[in-house]
Amino acid sequence: MINELELVLTKVFNKLGYDIKAKVIKSNRIDLCDFQCDNAFTLAKTYHQSPLEIGEKIVKNLNDLENFNDYFDEVTFVLPGFINIKVSNTIINKYIKILKSDFKALLPKQEKETFILDFGGANVAKPLHVGHMRTILVGESIARIIRFLGHKTISDVHLGDYGLQIGQVIYGILGDNKDINEIDIKYLDKIYPEMSSLCKENEDIKDKCAQITKKLQDGDLEYHKLWKKILEVSIKDIKKNYDFLGANFDLWLGESDAYKYLDELKNIFDSKDLITTSEGALIIDVSKTDDKKEIPPLLFQKSNGAYLYASTDLATILGRKKLYNPNHILYIVDNRQALHFEQVFRASDKADIMPYSSLEHLGYGTVNGSDGKPYKTRSGETPKLENLFKNAKELFISKKESNKDMSNEDIDKIVNAILKFADLQNSREKDYIFDLNKFSDVTGKTGPYVLYTYLRFNKILKSQEISNTLTNNIYNKYDRDLRIKIIEFSNVIESAFNERKPHYIADYVYNLCVVCNIFYQNNYISNMEDKTNKNDWLYILELSNKVIKEMLNLLVIEIPSIM
Ligand code: ARG
Repeated sequence: MINELELVLTKVFNKLGYDIKAKVIKSNRIDLCDFQCDNAFTLAKTYHQSPLEIGEKIVKNLNDLENFNDYFDEVTFVLPGFINIKVSNTIINKYIKILKSDFKALLPKQEKETFILDFGGANVAKPLHVGHMRTILVGESIARIIRFLGHKTISDVHLGDYGLQIGQVIYGILGDNKDINEIDIKYLDKIYPEMSSLCKENEDIKDKCAQITKKLQDGDLEYHKLWKKILEVSIKDIKKNYDFLGANFDLWLGESDAYKYLDELKNIFDSKDLITTSEGALIIDVSKTDDKKEIPPLLFQKSNGAYLYASTDLATILGRKKLYNPNHILYIVDNRQALHFEQVFRASDKADIMPYSSLEHLGYGTVNGSDGKPYKTRSGETPKLENLFKNAKELFISKKESNKDMSNEDIDKIVNAILKFADLQNSREKDYIFDLNKFSDVTGKTGPYVLYTYLRFNKILKSQEISNTLTNNIYNKYDRDLRIKIIEFSNVIESAFNERKPHYIADYVYNLCVVCNIFYQNNYISNMEDKTNKNDWLYILELSNKVIKEMLNLLVIEIPSIM
């Protein structure tokens, strides 16, 4: 609808001799109008007239349009230079009908591209904790938004499976004389934290663990066998957690899979003279003369020959390029790795592997406790992800007597909704405070509220006959508000896609639910006499519930059978 309004306004601008494209935005005074156009201000500067003169001229010409009512109910000028637009029933209903017949009709038409999404990124052998949730939720949601627009996505979990933690765990296993067949997740959960703190205290042991890691990377057979076992056990556990959250990965690759590209990668950088030596290590200078703050060189290879995080990330780009030739690679990784990705992207660009513009780091903030520090349990530990799910489940069940009777499947869906809606309503780069009690309320901006709204209307809709015709009437303000809100959804998806921000969708679906509930409270649909009016409203309600359902899917939220 906004696009069409812009076209109408642009035509009038051109007729008056103003050579710009009109911009129409949602009104910030919803009580006065639906949309506004603020172009009179810029036009005034360009054409050396007052905004008043220009604005009034535009408004008069719009009002003189022969087909005014196809678009507008009222267009007025407001000082100092705003054009306020109230749209007509005709245009509202036109778009409602388009959406009803083809849900995706109003989405922007884009050339189909391939996106690789790099998220999840768990480190094998380390327990998953609450901090690992955001990458999954944001990553899977962005993947769904991208596919909704018709693009191809390839999700790669990019496990940390070749780092120092592996050497530490192998050292522990050998020290314990642990039989390889007895290595299970319980053992890994115990041995990794032990070894990790031991290495912090003891430089010697830390060095030994680093040597084991290096030997493993160089092909040591005994270590390789243990590594395989650790991988098998740990990945099974990681999958269980990711499955619970509904994340889907096309590729279960890791840092270790990048090693086969390292020689070729090194040759590329060498042939372009991009590698220099510094204290025995190989580095790549990625600084630029106009850098505002210093960007240190990328550490490519240590003096002992070991490769590093940045080198495997570069090798991974090379591998992805060869196998999938993607248009974009998106990394959904903690904000704190911003510098790492800046270095990697610059190096990739410098060596013509993939251009800087095709690589995006979509950083996210921290999940904090009420003290503003990274979330911990009451006893001061970082909670395991699995326990977090368990706590959320228990809390939800304890909230209402009847929750105890729900099926396990339904409860899992609601727990997912609680966690996901809480997370995804925040702009991804911001930190947020984890407050399970608040998140699981049925009132307020929560997952349960949205689910409850959907299920409530679904029940009503199921009990009614609805014909697929809509009259041209709009019956009252609540009805009108709801229709306008529904039409907004394609613009919301477009913004969420452009900025890779699922919270636009969470915001929107919440607001849609609020408008929908207000509509329903003020209009007694179920026992209405007027059959035409009743059918129109059921038609609208059905469409709005369809939008809610699709938006929930983009937020990776499944709908339980009851609540
Ligand atoms: N394993 C890494 C970590 O825990 C995250 C991996 C992110 N992806 C990447 N391509 N670097 O820090």
